[in-house]
Amino acid sequence: MKKNIFFCVIWFVNMQTYSSDLSVGGSSDVRVRMGENITLNCSMRNRDEVAWYRLRSEELVLLISAEKDKTGRRLLTTYNQNRTRMKMTADSWVTRVSLTISGVTESDSGLYFYGIKSDTPEMHFNKPIRLEIEGNRFQFFSSLGVR
Ligand SMILES: *[C@@H]1O[C@H](CO)[C@@H](O)[C@H](O)[C@H]1NC(C)=O
Ligand SMILES: *[C@@H]1O[C@H](CO)[C@@H](O)[C@H](O)[C@H]1NC(C)=O
Ligand SMILES: *[C@@H]1O[C@H](CO)[C@@H](O)[C@H](O)[C@H]1NC(C)=O
Repeated sequence: MKKNIFFCVIWFVNMQTYSSDLSVGGSSDVRVRMGENITLNCSMRNRDEVAWYRLRSEELVLLISAEKDKTGRRLLTTYNQNRTRMKMTADSWVTRVSLTISGVTESDSGLYFYGIKSDTPEMHFNKPIRLEIEGNRFQFFSSLGVR
């Protein structure tokens, strides 16, 4: 009996650690209003390729990917899920790279994270950013059918 309780405690402590890793544990939260633009930043120092992903409703989506050109001074977009809404920009040495998503809607909320890599096949992932979209009062009332 005592042994069982001991194992329960261990299990509980492990679950606590595990669930905090899964949820916010280390992610940063960003809140934007519906319709606004959001800029997410990353560092590509000593890396050649970058890819941004969004996790939402247990679905992982590649949003955009890019790589440095031969000179290392330009960033070439290799994939863009929606060119009308997303754009990547870089500083002159392509160390600081920004992804701008314009006119965010509710469906843009989720966990965002980027992977960066060099010649080696493995990707390195950063801490996720939790993007929350705030509706406004008008949208709240119109969703209720009130005008
Ligand atoms: C990214 O950098 C821009 C420019 O410095 C800043 O305005 C923006 O808030 C940053 N984004 C986040 C999510 O911190
Ligand atoms: C891209 O975004 C625009 C504006 O929100 C939307 O109308 C269009 O359907 C999107 N295209 C794709 C392929 O998701
Ligand atoms: C948001 O992004 C769009 C498209 O890039 C741009 O036309 C618009 O001026 C931006 N709005 C703000 C408030 O920066």
